[in-house]
Amino acid sequence: MNAKVIALAAAGAVGGFLFGFDSSVVNGAVDAIQAQFDLSATLTGIAVASALLGCAAGAELAGRLADRYGRIPVMMIGAILFLVSAIGSGYAFAVWDLILWRLVGGLGIGIASVVSPAYIAEISPRRARGRLASLQQLAIVFGIFAALLSDAIFANLAGGASEPLWWGLETWRWMFLAGVVPAVVYGVIALLLPESPRYLMTVDKEDEARRILAEIQPTEVDRAISEIRASMHADEQAAKAKGALRGPVLGLKGIVWIGILLSVFQQFVGINVIFYYSTTLWKAVGFDESDSLTISVITSVTNILVTFVAIALVDRVGRRPLLLVGSAGMTVSLATMALAFANSVEVDGEVSLPGGWGPVALVAANLFVVFFGFSWGPLVWVLLGEIFPNRIRGRALGLAAAAQWIANFIVTVTFPALSDFSLLFTYGMYAAFAALSFAFVFAKVPETNGMSLEESETLFPAKGSARRSAKRPSP
Ligand code: GLC
Repeated sequence: MNAKVIALAAAGAVGGFLFGFDSSVVNGAVDAIQAQFDLSATLTGIAVASALLGCAAGAELAGRLADRYGRIPVMMIGAILFLVSAIGSGYAFAVWDLILWRLVGGLGIGIASVVSPAYIAEISPRRARGRLASLQQLAIVFGIFAALLSDAIFANLAGGASEPLWWGLETWRWMFLAGVVPAVVYGVIALLLPESPRYLMTVDKEDEARRILAEIQPTEVDRAISEIRASMHADEQAAKAKGALRGPVLGLKGIVWIGILLSVFQQFVGINVIFYYSTTLWKAVGFDESDSLTISVITSVTNILVTFVAIALVDRVGRRPLLLVGSAGMTVSLATMALAFANSVEVDGEVSLPGGWGPVALVAANLFVVFFGFSWGPLVWVLLGEIFPNRIRGRALGLAAAAQWIANFIVTVTFPALSDFSLLFTYGMYAAFAALSFAFVFAKVPETNGMSLEESETLFPAKGSARRSAKRPSP
């Protein structure tokens, strides 16, 4: 693997950093926003969750635009949206204004969540694709960590998120304004990156595709070009036979469903409850405010560290084994959390976990992040980048990512009410989804390790096409 490919993949992954940063930067600002605009709990929830709906819309839109205009122009649109959202949110003068800018930022996050995995998968050599695509998740979790950290630093400097920091602007505004820096970096990077050769082929720009492939995979140019051409031909045949690649949902080919379900399971195990609500959760079971904040930061560092495990293993052991081990581990750790929470007691209106159940819940929660972090976290993005045919990659990925954002939204908005009802039930449900995810991978998710993107495509031939069956490449 040459240094240029690594640099391109890392640059493509910067979108992931913004994804993580922008989706969690609001954490440290929530209470101050509520106080500043005198918001009810419902309106606060809407201000936070509006971004997630923007993400779903952005993902769907990005998919279409990326197939039509290419991956790079879409990255630039994403960078511009991130930039205006950071400035707009920072200077918001009313809650509706803030909601509007959060929605705009959400569009940017949604775009980055689609275009980064597509781009990385399309420029990576097959044997390193899992590792390079996992850089996206590394960037996401690093972005989450950077947002939590910068929130904490600003709040410490000023003595609270509601206090003025510089230029008479309150600290929570600076939390958003900090997003200007990565947005500008992303825009500049997008200006410098070459277009994806696979996209170029689908719009008849073979010469340009060859030139770029020659730089990044010099020994594979002819092979890659002929594989891409063959797959495009097969797609066309299938489209003629069935109209399968036209229409709004791409005829809902089997593989598109697999992408959607991977996304939904990734969210329904409740991972973002940990990242969006952990501080509240730990406080609710008896830890004090500062311990709870520290635990949240430790959890995000844990997530960063275990992503390296995925990077080390994904191209060696393959996607399926990691997902299966991850599902099994998540099931056990989530069930343990449910069990621990079943023992909570309420004394004088305060909930706590007596008899050593507090540490049990804590260890189980971090083990859950460990199991998620080397499996479903990175691998869903890896798979979404590589399982779809070239001609529909953008649209199909857009659809799967939009489903993921909607699933994320559902989990995020229902958690407060569910946890009021019963933490045992809530975590029991997440555990059940983790168990189901095992069965789903076992029965339905194909192994794509070591295959070219075009070979993976043959795992799910469109109806009506006369394709060769998938064959494992020789090692
Ligand atoms: C994955 C998920 C994202 C989550 C992150 C945490 O990237 O898609 O929603 O926040 O993992 O590790």
